[in-house]
Amino acid sequence: MKALALLGLALLAGAVYAEPLGLPPVPIPADNPQSAEKIKLGDKLFHDKRFSSTGAVACSNCHDDAKAFTDSPRRVSEGVNKLTGTRNAPTVINAAYMKTQFWDGRSPSLEDQALYPFLNPVEMALPDHGPILKIVRNDPDYAAAFQSVFGKSGEAITMKEVTQAIASFERTVVAGNSPFDRWYYGHDERALTPAQVRGFQVFVGQGRCVSCHVIEQTQALFTDNRFHNIGVGITAVQADVPKLAGAFLEAKAKGVDVDVAVLTDKKTSELGRFAVTDQFDDLGGFKTPTLRNIALTAPYMHDGSLKTLKDVMTHYNNGGIAKAGDRVNDFLSGGIRPLNLTSQQMDDLVAFMQALTSPEFAQTAAKAK
Ligand code: HEC
Ligand code: HEC
Repeated sequence: MKALALLGLALLAGAVYAEPLGLPPVPIPADNPQSAEKIKLGDKLFHDKRFSSTGAVACSNCHDDAKAFTDSPRRVSEGVNKLTGTRNAPTVINAAYMKTQFWDGRSPSLEDQALYPFLNPVEMALPDHGPILKIVRNDPDYAAAFQSVFGKSGEAITMKEVTQAIASFERTVVAGNSPFDRWYYGHDERALTPAQVRGFQVFVGQGRCVSCHVIEQTQALFTDNRFHNIGVGITAVQADVPKLAGAFLEAKAKGVDVDVAVLTDKKTSELGRFAVTDQFDDLGGFKTPTLRNIALTAPYMHDGSLKTLKDVMTHYNNGGIAKAGDRVNDFLSGGIRPLNLTSQQMDDLVAFMQALTSPEFAQTAAKAK
């Protein structure tokens, strides 16, 4: 991507670059500073299909820059041999700002997160990280790049360097400067349509969306980095929850791989944040996702169960159930209640969310129409 290359150049020159309108500076860990060469190496690793059991799946299969770094319109992701997981691929755009990674926050950093997909049996399905190290230690281009970026060669190259490079690349996948940002932070009154302005009023007012999808004085990440049960998925397994939760805790005590368990078993997936904390209040809780570029990443929610933004609005308007009269789940967040929005207000909210598309992805938006 051109924008990423430009950012890389700015870093190379040591130039101070301004972050996109509406976003804070990207947090960079002290032990993994950015450099143009490291970013380029990470970009290559992210797109390398050889790091999978079939040689056909790279990170970019499911986080495709042509699809705003998702695999839209898939409901759940497809890994090696067309095996499907249980969850919808979140975008990597602005993941650099997330305090935890994955829908249930089971990983603390981008560096750590990148270890898992390579081994997950429904994603890249390698038996261990050995095949990756074999390639990066022996492929002349990789060997030269690791030498130059990390001063390491042969056995000295480990997954630490591999994941550091991938994370550095991901920290350049940031996007702001949407029509909303130009209106709210840039004070350009014409950046939003009247419907989008009305939608914003509902977002911060009667809809109470902003209590979780946070907008601040100088920046908007549209997430509180917290976990909430908003009534998606868990309703279907409600009756089994006590049994499922008990069985999961037992399996965990015996050392089950949580990453594999939640992505290969639909019911276990629905335990949500509970799978990480073992706390019953976290049952069915998932991380508040960003809403930036949301118009491009349908379908929605951790299980991809809601097809359109209008469907999402109906879900919220009903107070966390698909249709009036459905049973409300026992662990629903107190923040989710029927909203009594009119059809016009719901349309306005959708229009507002369409104003969150960054210019880098505007072309993707045009194609999606
Ligand atoms: C087969 C599809 C697939 C592949 C391949 C894949 N991912 Fe993902 N990715 C997903 C899904 C699905 C999730 C959500 C899983 C969950 O939350 O339990 C995810 C989550 C993430 C997240 C967390 C984002 C957030 O907001 O929490 C990051 C970052 C990420 N992937 C990066 C990568 C990297 C780096 C690779 C390659 C090493 C990769 N992914 C390979 C499907 C995939
Ligand atoms: C109590 C916190 C909370 C409130 C209030 C809230 N959301 Fe959410 N939102 C979440 C969480 C958590 C998810 C992910 C839930 C899941 O997948 O199970 C989510 C998911 C979404 C998604 C799908 C994102 C994706 O990438 O799939 C959209 C769109 C959305 N919310 C819009 C809104 C709008 C509009 C409102 C106001 C009407 C709103 N939200 C109110 C917490 C909240």
